[in-house]
Amino acid sequence: MILPIVAYGDPVLRKAGAKIDQHNKDLQALIVNMWQTMYNANGVGLAAPQVNKAVNLFIVDTESFDDERYPIIKKVFINAEILEEWGDEWDFEEGCLSIPNIRENVSRRPHLRIRYQDEHFNTFEEEYSGIPARVIQHEYDHCKGKLFIDYISELKRRLLKNKLLNISKGGAKVDYKMRLPANK
Ligand code: NI
Repeated sequence: MILPIVAYGDPVLRKAGAKIDQHNKDLQALIVNMWQTMYNANGVGLAAPQVNKAVNLFIVDTESFDDERYPIIKKVFINAEILEEWGDEWDFEEGCLSIPNIRENVSRRPHLRIRYQDEHFNTFEEEYSGIPARVIQHEYDHCKGKLFIDYISELKRRLLKNKLLNISKGGAKVDYKMRLPANK
């Protein structure tokens, strides 16, 4: 089932995702729905808060980057914890399904080590670099209530103010279903 993607301005995007219990009965269905939702919106990653579930879960599929320097990863990350990030920060233009039609350079470290559980609750500790690391960092942030626009300069954010307001009011032109913040 394709789920509506929460638009910028909804408080759920600012909530830290709760730890997921292995016996959570809705988890497998949620994961299936998140894959469908992400592919339907042509995304490369999606975090549970973006479908209005404040839990520590995100999915990543980097296949569409088509950059042979990095392995393609297609994975479910549950209860992820970034243990370490290193290397000289690099700029990469990021976007977000919850913040459509805005792309900005974000500076992050190129390498990371992460501990997480997969959909079968096996625990892994792995290292990622480059684009896969970048997508993981972006989605991981969602599970901490953080958005990529938090990293851009105050000036740039001020320039985006009206665009962001427009998104939160449902004015973004997208070809997927969005869930707007409740009327205040
Ligand atoms: Ni995002």
